[in-house]
Amino acid sequence: MDKVTVYINDMRLEVPAEYTILQAAREAGVRIPTLCHDERLEPFGACRVCVVKVEGARALLPACATPVSEGMRIWTDVDEVMRARRTVIELLLSDHPNDCMVCERSGSCGLQDLAYEYGVREPRFQGERHSYEILSDNPLIERDYNKCILCGRCVRICREVQGVGVYDFVNRGFDAVPGTPYGRSLPETPCEFCGQCVSTCPTGAIVSIPSKGKGRAWQVTKVRTTCPYCGCGCQMDLHVKDGEVVEVSSPVMVGPGQGNLCAKGRYGYGFIHHPDRLTKPLVRKGGELVEVSWEEALDLVAGRLRELVAEHGPDCVGFLVSARCTNEENYLLQKLARAVVGTNNVDHCARL
Ligand code: SF4
Ligand code: SF4
Ligand code: SF4
Ligand code: FES
Repeated sequence: MDKVTVYINDMRLEVPAEYTILQAAREAGVRIPTLCHDERLEPFGACRVCVVKVEGARALLPACATPVSEGMRIWTDVDEVMRARRTVIELLLSDHPNDCMVCERSGSCGLQDLAYEYGVREPRFQGERHSYEILSDNPLIERDYNKCILCGRCVRICREVQGVGVYDFVNRGFDAVPGTPYGRSLPETPCEFCGQCVSTCPTGAIVSIPSKGKGRAWQVTKVRTTCPYCGCGCQMDLHVKDGEVVEVSSPVMVGPGQGNLCAKGRYGYGFIHHPDRLTKPLVRKGGELVEVSWEEALDLVAGRLRELVAEHGPDCVGFLVSARCTNEENYLLQKLARAVVGTNNVDHCARL
């Protein structure tokens, strides 16, 4: 891999030649703020909060979209840079509802964090403001374009990662929004309801309806786990509040999914607390299914297996495993079948 030498805030670094300034800075532990950047997506350079000073350049350059080059000298926090970033934040807030008190994204909003970091309370620029209708045309995804900063992340993730392309920028200038074709509702488009647009939106412009009002970012505990729905093994974070899973997200660039989830992984968690869910084993007694302890149920199954195997041989039983269990659980069940019972009759719901 070819390397180049760059200097960030006078610190000498050797980085891969294909890196952007942002990647080089992150590797060196130098913070550069971003809004339109998402590691899952191609660089876009829309928001300009990541601007840095580069020796010899006529203007400040976006770190997320500028490749490094040999001998490049970069400054990330000189006055000129900080003033430019502050102005960008003020411009973004000049047409923003500043709804933080009730906004679903408060506490995990990129714009709120930057306003705090750069001390922007009141935008300097007063002018026309939008008053778009909030779009809740489906049970899962709500769009509030009043909070949109036109970063294009929803447009790009739907096209670049999902390969669906539900959104694109419609209208021009002040009236531009990441809309659907002909302003259709999401169910009228090829939307897969994966919620990838929710996962990437840096503000409260696109949020998950099932999680609304269920807990602020700082009230939930994130528990890392593996999606139970298929063998891809996507990593997910369960957002748990008061013992209840209120949202599911995925850590970016981690595991096979790299931070991407499908509709099942992101929204299929209703079964966890569903009142119809079986949480105790049932055994048929006198024609009725009766709740019993795990010990009683396991003793019954083990006893019947022993009887059947003694009478008809081990191949009279078969074991069905499931893609919804982990590899380790599936491994253990086939081990039980082969090593304990003595049969190779093992099958899998996802085999065909
Ligand atoms: S839910 Fe998925 S398919 Fe639908 S618009 Fe969002 S990213 Fe595209
Ligand atoms: S809806 Fe969110 S992700 Fe899409 S452009 Fe607006 S701010 Fe960016
Ligand atoms: S999120 Fe979707 S693709 Fe990923 S493991 Fe779950 S079901 Fe499979
Ligand atoms: S993060 Fe670089 S331009 Fe938006």
